[in-house]
Amino acid sequence: MEIHDIIKNRWSPVAFSDEPVNDDLLDSLFEAARWAPSSYNAQPWKFMVGRKGEETYALLFDLLKDMNKRWAHTAPVLVLSMAEMVPPGRSSENRFAFHDTGMAVGNLLAQATNVGLQVHQMGGYDVEGARSALQLPPNMEPAAMMAIGFKGDPSNLPDEVAAREERPRERKGLEEFVFSKKF
Ligand SMILES: Cc1cc2nc3c(=O)[nH]c(=O)nc-3n(C[C@H](O)[C@H](O)[C@H](O)COP(=O)(O)O)c2cc1C
Repeated sequence: MEIHDIIKNRWSPVAFSDEPVNDDLLDSLFEAARWAPSSYNAQPWKFMVGRKGEETYALLFDLLKDMNKRWAHTAPVLVLSMAEMVPPGRSSENRFAFHDTGMAVGNLLAQATNVGLQVHQMGGYDVEGARSALQLPPNMEPAAMMAIGFKGDPSNLPDEVAAREERPRERKGLEEFVFSKKF
């Protein structure tokens, strides 16, 4: 079944090149995120951006679990997505804050693929550490870390890490998650 190339060609690589990502190109990813739909148009997503050589990059990198540190150091940009769980001026939680942040990240991924960038998301990081290191307010929930950059050479990585680039990408069949009767 045919799907769009932008969806088909996105994947989560471990090798990034040294080539820096210029500001305009990086901003185009956030511009794509900006236009995501959201419940009540609350736009609950926030992004903390670190470029290699900057303090924020070092801070984000330090939060990563060792398994991710092994390859993520090759990425020129690290970004932490966050969800504002309670909208300003409201007292109740926005049940869709995480959902909508994920949709904004989906837009970001599509734009990245479209401009030749690759993004690898990571849940393997110290969430509590992120709250304190970034001085997040209580209503800001860290979501996923992202390594962003251009394609690199996996042979610069340890063999067992580089081997991940060769792993076949697998997915469940539609029959496992598309339903038309009672669950
Ligand atoms: C929220 C989230 C957390 C993830 N955490 C990690 C992680 O900590 N380390 C890692 O190497 N990959 C991580 N991944 C990448 C997934 O393993 C990957 O998306 C999945 O295996 C499908 O592969 P593909 O993105 O190449 O299609 C994460 C992806 C998402 C969306």
